[in-house]
Amino acid sequence: MEIAIKVTDLSFVYPDGTIGLNKVSLEIRKGQTVVIIGANGTGKSTLLLNLMGIFKGEGEIEIFGMPMNKKSLSEVCGRLGLVFQNPDDQLFCPTVFDDVAFGPLNLGYDEETVRQKVKRALSSVRMERFAERSSHHLSFGEKKRVSIASVLSMEPDILLLDEPTGGLDPKSASELLEILHQLKEEGKTILTTTHDLYLISELADIVFVMGEDKNIVAKDLPHIIFSNRKLLLENNLIHKSRSLYEHPREKYNVYQ
Ligand SMILES: Nc1ncnc2c1ncn2[C@@H]1O[C@H](COP(=O)(O)OP(=O)(O)OP(=O)(O)O)[C@@H](O)[C@H]1O
Ligand SMILES: [Mg+2]
Repeated sequence: MEIAIKVTDLSFVYPDGTIGLNKVSLEIRKGQTVVIIGANGTGKSTLLLNLMGIFKGEGEIEIFGMPMNKKSLSEVCGRLGLVFQNPDDQLFCPTVFDDVAFGPLNLGYDEETVRQKVKRALSSVRMERFAERSSHHLSFGEKKRVSIASVLSMEPDILLLDEPTGGLDPKSASELLEILHQLKEEGKTILTTTHDLYLISELADIVFVMGEDKNIVAKDLPHIIFSNRKLLLENNLIHKSRSLYEHPREKYNVYQ
């Protein structure tokens, strides 16, 4: 199976000297959905920003076999789309339409093609009716959807999402999960970070765990990661006083 993302020994240090990533290596196959978990500050967002070429660390990144470097940057990055953790970092145009049209316009498509792409992207996140609204006057959940549409309109092969359900109410979170399921079915390669156990159990083919040393400490099938209490405790992914099996989902049968 084709490798979509290959990262070898990727390290990144912020200008103030804080280590963002420490020799991260990973491989993600085309069509796979990989969920990255890890406590706050373990480098999840930093990794996505490096994959998107926004930050440039040391080490190697290959996208569909093409090394990411100065020369290849725009071609390589054109195959990826990043939905930021905070939608206010993504949306900056006067209207929803403009925000979603921004990418395809920059890619040089004619007006009619841009319209079609915007329509399709807004409809896949069920936000067609919001096209003429101001992005900044939307609710947080609506902004998240528009952020996703602004990435989908460029039709990337690889979708990077930084905590897509963060800050969403349960209904919006499950609607977002449906959208991600659909994208997965369409064959997109998805790499998402999350603190949401439900998203992991619903969506992940593979889970990567990032640890305090800002690298990947475990990669495995979701049920194997979640039956490893020691790993979860050591990486601050569950409360000390509770076992995973006492998670409210199991305890109160709320999802059954
Ligand atoms: N702009 C910055 N300048 C300096 N250090 C930063 C900056 N942004 C992040 N860091 C540091 O880099 C490390 C990794 O941060 P990052 O935001 O990637 O973590 P994260 O895993 O995404 O956390 P969260 O779950 O809170 O979103 C942290 O130690 C953080 O303090
Ligand atoms: Mg983050």
